Amino acid sequence: MKVLVTGGLGFIGSHTVVELQNEGFEVVIIDNLSNSSEDVLKGITAITGKTPIFEKLDLREKSAVQNFFKKHNDVTGVIHFAASKAVGESVEQPLLYYENNIASLVYLLQELQQKPEASFIFSSSCTVYGQAEKMPITEDAPVQAAMSPYGNTKQIGEEIIIDTAKVTNISAILLRYFNPIGAHSSTEIGELPLGVPQNLVPFITQTGMGLRQELSVFGNDYPTPDGTAVRDYIHVVDLAKAHVIALQRLFNKKNLQKVETFNLGTGTGSSVLEVINSFEKVSDKKLPYKIMPRREGDITEAYANTDKANNVLGWKAELSLDEAMASAWKWEQKVRS
Ligand code: WQD
Repeated sequence: MKVLVTGGLGFIGSHTVVELQNEGFEVVIIDNLSNSSEDVLKGITAITGKTPIFEKLDLREKSAVQNFFKKHNDVTGVIHFAASKAVGESVEQPLLYYENNIASLVYLLQELQQKPEASFIFSSSCTVYGQAEKMPITEDAPVQAAMSPYGNTKQIGEEIIIDTAKVTNISAILLRYFNPIGAHSSTEIGELPLGVPQNLVPFITQTGMGLRQELSVFGNDYPTPDGTAVRDYIHVVDLAKAHVIALQRLFNKKNLQKVETFNLGTGTGSSVLEVINSFEKVSDKKLPYKIMPRREGDITEAYANTDKANNVLGWKAELSLDEAMASAWKWEQKVRS
């Protein structure tokens, strides 16, 4: 089975390519290298001994997408990661996000709808729930008005897939990630944020390496046990494995509807201070931080109800916050060595 992974040189994409290859799939990667490096191919090969096919192209170019599917007409499964994902940047440059995240999805689906059947896994996000009323968050929690154009592109993307699956031979699974962190145990691949990291864990590990002076903790006046915001931090390898299981579900026609949705989290919420404590424990270093005002657009808490993923999809996160933090720290030290 040849599987297309778009954004396959990115953080979650590259870890998913490794797990697909481990399961015997032939992988072709599309990536435009706007937020990744071709060196990641070496990392993947170092882990699995197999080099995926790599096609450098921009999914915003419709003709390039059409030519790709002419060349690789044996692709029947797609895992679609390629998208812009910086929440703050999406507020400043909404059209860049709508063009990149929506147009590329439309062009992919236009090619897939021409096949007798196609399986499509979509990289979505818990951000579609906004600040959910009830914790832990289930898949039928209402989708709320997006807090950013980035979040809106995930909501719109889900709707486009649902509408398309109704009238084509495309079956799809929407995977709503919570907060992906960590790196492969081999330290051959990991998170490579460009510039100043927006996300908590890479900022922590860069601070641990002395690249950043101190961590700003965005708010300690939230209605949470220690006042700092709570999220569900999931190891990227656990997340990657879920994608393979979801794709196999569609290939084996185990899906119960044309489009299914699953929350991918650990089911446990951790506060910013708990993540800092975890880092200090696994690194044996004191992390310098300062309490700052809340960050615009942040929610108080989000963590997943994992019943559906565990009992229907047949997947469960296995790695702990400490194991994820230890892998992130090991990766940071390797990258900076
Ligand atoms: C986590 C917590 C911050 C940085 C976003 C997107 C989501 C997904 C993951 C793409 C929050 C706090 C952070 C820092 C801090 N992105 N924080 N100091 O905002 O939960 O989710 O990234 O797929 O869609 O919404 O993740 O890591 O930015 O923040 O105190 O320097 O850490 O306030 O409470 P977030 P995050």
